[in-house]
Amino acid sequence: MRYNEAIRGKMNSLKSGGFLLLAIETSCDETSAAVLNSPTGVLSNVIHTQIPIHREFGGVVPEIASRSHVERIGGVVREALSSAGVTIEDINAIAVTSHPGLIGALLVGISYAKGLALGLKIPITGVNHIHGHIAANYISHPDIKPPYVCLVASGGHSNIVIVRDYCEYEELGRTVDDAAGEAFDKVARVMGLPYPGGPQLERLASTGESGKYRFHSAFNESPSYDFSFSGLKTAVINLIHSKKQRGETINLADVAASFQETVVNVLVNKTVAAANRHGLKSIAIAGGVSGNMALREQMKKAAHAGGMEFYCPDMRYCSDNAAMIGAAGYRQLIKNVSDGLDLNGTATK
Ligand code: KG4
Ligand code: ZN
Repeated sequence: MRYNEAIRGKMNSLKSGGFLLLAIETSCDETSAAVLNSPTGVLSNVIHTQIPIHREFGGVVPEIASRSHVERIGGVVREALSSAGVTIEDINAIAVTSHPGLIGALLVGISYAKGLALGLKIPITGVNHIHGHIAANYISHPDIKPPYVCLVASGGHSNIVIVRDYCEYEELGRTVDDAAGEAFDKVARVMGLPYPGGPQLERLASTGESGKYRFHSAFNESPSYDFSFSGLKTAVINLIHSKKQRGETINLADVAASFQETVVNVLVNKTVAAANRHGLKSIAIAGGVSGNMALREQMKKAAHAGGMEFYCPDMRYCSDNAAMIGAAGYRQLIKNVSDGLDLNGTATK
């Protein structure tokens, strides 16, 4: 039987849930595979991070990322299956990150997933990486119900999204230049901190005083839901360079604390404004930057002050992982959203 004919009947049986899903994520510098038995039921979530490989270059090198995914994907999938206590023949469907991301890296996961789907004659669904980050919240909080506003802040994205329903998203705004995580990484680099700089900068900031330096961003004070972090990043970098050139000392912990506070304020103010404007009673955050304690605490405080619920993923589901791709993919399959073997990756959108 040809693949498409075999799949038609199988899609029907997925509608009621209760199936085993294998999820694969290779969009950037983590090779990850997970097994789920429901949209919130994670049986395993194996992550191989390439951070030590890219660290000496100060950022992700796309070609090296693709090659490392090729080397690791088989082992990571096998480990995800064995730690879930299942075999590949038990898997009923596959979810894989299809966009956005590094194209070469995405194609490794997509090709591997399509090979499995064809061999096993099971459905495959391509997942938007940003939707995956949002769905990480469902794993930690099965009680969240759309509609709600979600801030997705990572190394590649800073988006404010209204989640209308489980698979229905409306983007209100995004960054017009650097993403929030990218700004953390670039400022951290100038401070001499290793890649990825976000968590390191947070650590340094915890020993500094945030009121010592004031950074303004007219763009971020506008009522639009778009962000701009490039000007802020440049202001911090210029401050550090000019102090150095004049031979003056500068307390980097204070600079880190002031920079972090400015970014967090912008992210919190715009997200809360979006929730208010659209009459939504819950706010969630997602993406690598949602692991930042200052952001988690400030957003929670602001949401509760406005009488809103606040949700954030467990720390282990904030940065890239396949469980979150599975959480989004599972809902897509229940809603009959699947792809053919012509599924392709795209770097953007
Ligand atoms: O979601 P993610 O793992 O990958 C992308 O989809 O980009 O996010 C990684 C980004 C990096 O820029 C990293 O520095 C940032 O998230 N990040 C943080 C923190 N943890 C990770 N930024 C600020 N504070 C943190 N604690
Ligand atoms: Zn990500």
